Amino acid sequence: MSKRGVTIFLTLLLTVCLIGMERVKADQEEKSLAAEAEQSQRSEMAEAEQDDEKLVALTFDDGPQEGSTERLLEGLKEREVKATFFLIGQSIEGEEVLVKQMAQDGHLIGSHTFHHVQLTGLSLEEACGEITMTNKAITGATGQTVEYIRPPYGSWNSKLECAVNMREVGWTVDPRDWDVKNTDVIVKRVLNDVKDGSIILLHDVYDTSVEAAFQIIDELKAQGYTFVTVDRLLID
Ligand code: NI
Repeated sequence: MSKRGVTIFLTLLLTVCLIGMERVKADQEEKSLAAEAEQSQRSEMAEAEQDDEKLVALTFDDGPQEGSTERLLEGLKEREVKATFFLIGQSIEGEEVLVKQMAQDGHLIGSHTFHHVQLTGLSLEEACGEITMTNKAITGATGQTVEYIRPPYGSWNSKLECAVNMREVGWTVDPRDWDVKNTDVIVKRVLNDVKDGSIILLHDVYDTSVEAAFQIIDELKAQGYTFVTVDRLLID
């Protein structure tokens, strides 16, 4: 081969090598881009899964009640479920230990007035007394401030200056447990109406309601629901 021939041959060889290297490099880049895309798709799916999580809140009014509330707390602990309690102020006296336990177990505690009264039927002064006395009783037992109130009969006056930092909490599923006092009927009504984001109203002063709560928890857990305190379902 002539000198010129060798030069051409070497140049060609070098070119082929360079092209080959470029190709490998491009291949690697493509692969890493694909991996990145897969990674981000995976995290998007994980986020979507979280959004798909079905949440539900159990709320209990009218307690604390010696016996039934105690059994409820035990059953909730066994099932690792957090609930929300709206307490009647005058029922707290003598049940402070139970109320403290409630807070220690991670349940949310709100007010249901001191004497279970219709706030809008009272003078401003009387209504404020109902609210501040209940908050004092709850804070005395738990050491926590009270941020939520479920006014009896859903009757609320947002102009109550004493409650300016309190949030009213309603409900979306009401099986009228206090009326039927029948576990099967309560469970059936709740399971029939429940959906993602539901706030279920029950009363822990009835054994039939406490038993219903346990059956509702077991069934809804099997359906993939997660139980949360009601503050997590309130959207601003
Ligand atoms: Ni009530």
